[in-house]
Amino acid sequence: MIFTTFALANPNINKNPQGHFGAFLEDLPMEKILIIGAAGQLGSELTRSLAYQFGGEQVIATDLRDSARFEFDYCRFEVLDAMNKEALHDLVKEENVTQIYHLAAVLSATGERNPKFAWHLNMESLLFVLELAKELKLDKIYWPSSIAVFGPNTPKINTPQYCVKEPNTVYGISKQAGERWCEYYFQKYNVDVRSLRYPGLIGYKSLPGGGTTDYAVDIYHKALAGEKFTCFLRADSYLPMMYMPDAIKATLDLMNATRESVKIRSSYNLSGMSFSPKEIFESIKKHIPGFEIEFKPDFRQAIADSWPNSIDDSCASKDWGWKPDYDLDAMTVDILKNLPSYFKF
Ligand SMILES: NC(=O)c1ccc[n+]([C@@H]2O[C@H](COP(=O)([O-])OP(=O)(O)OC[C@H]3O[C@@H](n4cnc5c(N)ncnc54)[C@H](O)[C@@H]3O)[C@@H](O)[C@H]2O)c1
Repeated sequence: MIFTTFALANPNINKNPQGHFGAFLEDLPMEKILIIGAAGQLGSELTRSLAYQFGGEQVIATDLRDSARFEFDYCRFEVLDAMNKEALHDLVKEENVTQIYHLAAVLSATGERNPKFAWHLNMESLLFVLELAKELKLDKIYWPSSIAVFGPNTPKINTPQYCVKEPNTVYGISKQAGERWCEYYFQKYNVDVRSLRYPGLIGYKSLPGGGTTDYAVDIYHKALAGEKFTCFLRADSYLPMMYMPDAIKATLDLMNATRESVKIRSSYNLSGMSFSPKEIFESIKKHIPGFEIEFKPDFRQAIADSWPNSIDDSCASKDWGWKPDYDLDAMTVDILKNLPSYFKF
């Protein structure tokens, strides 16, 4: 088993930066963690942090993409289609899995190209996981929701936890329905399912998977490559965003919180920062003065226009102590420093 030294996002958990797991693991109950869709933008970083927390031998990373197995040299990897109910059932049962992180989904922009498929995958796979959790009495389930649950009639500034939600993308509709199913399985069947409404996630370790906020990852690649960036959103299009270390920290904090402190069983509002394409461009220009941008909004502008500008996450702060670490400039400094070691420019 190979463990590389890596920084765990959650400072409360990262008690042992040398990568020695023994003493730390003694404090935790024996859990077996299954991640579905582990090779994506979120999964590739979250899986590593889970391996750090629980030990690589306690973690099974799965994805549809076989080529991803080389990325998981620190834990077991299996090819698994989230739509294959029997294979999922067998793996969970045979391996005595206690927790599932279900990350596989069709995202917002890709979903609009094939709405029926997006609905089918996003809904059916969640229902498989929830049914399995009920049947096998699994310990905990994690399933991410999104700011896409909000819609054009939602208050845009400091969007509250509870408000009108009329999403107009298939992705948003599937996340909203998914939230209702999560709460239903908690209320009716006592399934300990936990969820966060992530804003747009920005990381440098992997490429994004077809969302409306992908531009905020791509822009750093173009800046470092010395290329002009063409932005598919308007210069003033404000959206809630979050740097990946904060998203990982929030996920682990929520999953490590006591059952009683998790009061919301649909999904928690979560906020990191909000910025427009013009502002992220200016943040990068402080370090790369010759960087240039042009704006050519496409179909993703309409999706962005239907989402909030900023999010009120006071319930997450109150219930389990959520607080982000990064603002836009701190994120820019960190990405410009670290991105070149992951991608060649
Ligand atoms: N990235 C964001 O900005 C963001 C924001 C809000 C919510 N989320 C949610 O977080 C989760 C993960 O998002 P991401 O950005 O990592 O997505 P991604 O597209 O980067 O990764 C999804 C992974 O799922 C895998 N997958 C697809 N279909 C599968 C199937 N049938 N069976 C098994 N694996 C399959 C893909 O190969 C991919 O590796 C999703 O539920 C998404 O809705 C992401």
